Amino acid sequence: MFDLGFIGFGNIAQALAKGLSSSNYNICAYDVLKSKSKTIRALNVACLSSNEEVVEKSKIIILCIKPSHFSQVLDNISSHVTNKKIIISVGAGVSLSFISKFLKDRKLVRIMPNLSSAFGNGFTAVAFNKFLLKKERSFIIKILDSFGKTMELKNESFFDKITALSGSGPAFFAFYLDSIIKYAIDSGFTRKQAVDIAYNTSGGALSYLQNSNLLPEKFIELVSSPKGTTEEGIKYLKSKGFKKIIMDCHKKSAKRSQSISLKNELLLRRKMK
Ligand SMILES: NC(=O)c1ccc[n+]([C@@H]2O[C@H](COP(=O)([O-])OP(=O)(O)OC[C@H]3O[C@@H](n4cnc5c(N)ncnc54)[C@H](OP(=O)(O)O)[C@@H]3O)[C@@H](O)[C@H]2O)c1
Repeated sequence: MFDLGFIGFGNIAQALAKGLSSSNYNICAYDVLKSKSKTIRALNVACLSSNEEVVEKSKIIILCIKPSHFSQVLDNISSHVTNKKIIISVGAGVSLSFISKFLKDRKLVRIMPNLSSAFGNGFTAVAFNKFLLKKERSFIIKILDSFGKTMELKNESFFDKITALSGSGPAFFAFYLDSIIKYAIDSGFTRKQAVDIAYNTSGGALSYLQNSNLLPEKFIELVSSPKGTTEEGIKYLKSKGFKKIIMDCHKKSAKRSQSISLKNELLLRRKMK
């Protein structure tokens, strides 16, 4: 019997499997794309031949498929999910109530991890349905802690916001870094130098903030001097509404998560008629 089984082995499943690579969990996976079997085995994960087999042979099953594939996969596996198994979903905008329409009174967990889980620097939000025992919830949190920081959300409505913040957030940050790299290259630095500048400056700033317990606002004051270079740059960012752009970006992303959720509900209601 496997401790954990992945259904779908794309970007996020691979990040989670890497995050678990130093643990002793026995892991298996299945992906419809046959070409993924090499990647599965390379991560020391057993490659099984169907989703049903993953469910039958695993204690905890992690659904790592795109939101649009949930109905079909849940339909396929529902008769194999007993009340002893724990089903974890990573689907953005896929609510616990949506999954429970297929899996009724089963133990269900919703998580929103991110790709940084691969290196133990991730952030995972988690919510449980009422069927998990306290010791099962603690066990799931222990597994999630292998990926970095875990936060339990009692109110599932926060998932749309956390999806934008910590799920999509790493990509927004990468977009910012990409702009720094492009500017450095345009200024005459090599790509390697540009990447070093961007990564070490941003990583260094984050490390300073974490180690000093300083809030970003105070840190900006510390770096700035009157009429200096930092003040000039910050003044420009403010004049262009930089903060509002970032906040609106998260707002739009959270709204998208909400609309995926609503679309799922509508699809399901149509299917149930
Ligand atoms: N990527 C992230 O950073 C991130 C972060 C948090 C949450 N998530 C969530 O994680 C889920 C997966 O995202 P992803 O980026 O990992 O997607 P992905 O890279 O497309 O991986 C999904 C994999 O599942 C396969 N698949 C499709 N239908 C299947 C089925 N019936 N049985 C088994 N495997 C199947 C896909 O194959 P095909 O390509 O042939 O369809 C693909 O290889 C999404 O619901 C997303 O919301 C992602």
